[in-house]
Amino acid sequence: MNRLIYRLMYRLGRPGWDTGITPPEVVEAFAYDDVPPGPALDLGCGTGTNVIYLARQGRRAIGIDFVPQAIAQARQKAQQAGVQENVQFLVADVTRLAELDLPQCSFALDMGCFHGLGEDGQRRYVEALAGQLLPGGRVMLFTLDPRREAGISFGVLPGRVQELFSPWFEIERIERGSFRKKGSTWFWMTRKHTA
Ligand SMILES: C[S@@+](CC[C@H](N)C(=O)[O-])C[C@H]1O[C@@H](n2cnc3c(N)ncnc32)[C@H](O)[C@@H]1O
Repeated sequence: MNRLIYRLMYRLGRPGWDTGITPPEVVEAFAYDDVPPGPALDLGCGTGTNVIYLARQGRRAIGIDFVPQAIAQARQKAQQAGVQENVQFLVADVTRLAELDLPQCSFALDMGCFHGLGEDGQRRYVEALAGQLLPGGRVMLFTLDPRREAGISFGVLPGRVQELFSPWFEIERIERGSFRKKGSTWFWMTRKHTA
């Protein structure tokens, strides 16, 4: 999905994905102390709900999104939540992560961004993320299976995610669900110490 479509969706009002709620899967990972210490990234962070959550868990939290309006809202929400000292928001393209001057991170979250990228973008994203995560660092990724909604095609099959990530990441857990009658997947991955 391209940038103009996302821009338009934010301009038209609050997009359906912007629930303001951190998903239980992410809350569980922190509740069970399943995330090594260090900075946390949210790729395609939208209006920053999960970046604020990560900051509240005591992390330095970095949110990246290429829609300026979403990032402006995220900054405002972080200020209202009183976590502005611990968060950093960047208007940037996640497929060009390697060009950003980011610290090495121990956690990365992606809810609904990766599955909208083109094939080349997905490849660049995974390679750069592998370089950005500390060995043992965790990734939580939520994707939708391929679908067409409102004339727009997006989504990715779990097998493609496994193929792209497995050279650098151990895929620890996969959970299938459904969203609007089609498949969805949560992936839990760990950055390998080698590769
Ligand atoms: C489905 S929304 C989910 C937003 C947020 N993760 C949430 O759960 O509320 C996907 C987000 O990824 C952002 N995005 C998509 N492609 C991107 C790219 N190449 N670089 C940066 N952000 C991107 C969109 O602007 C949008 O905010």
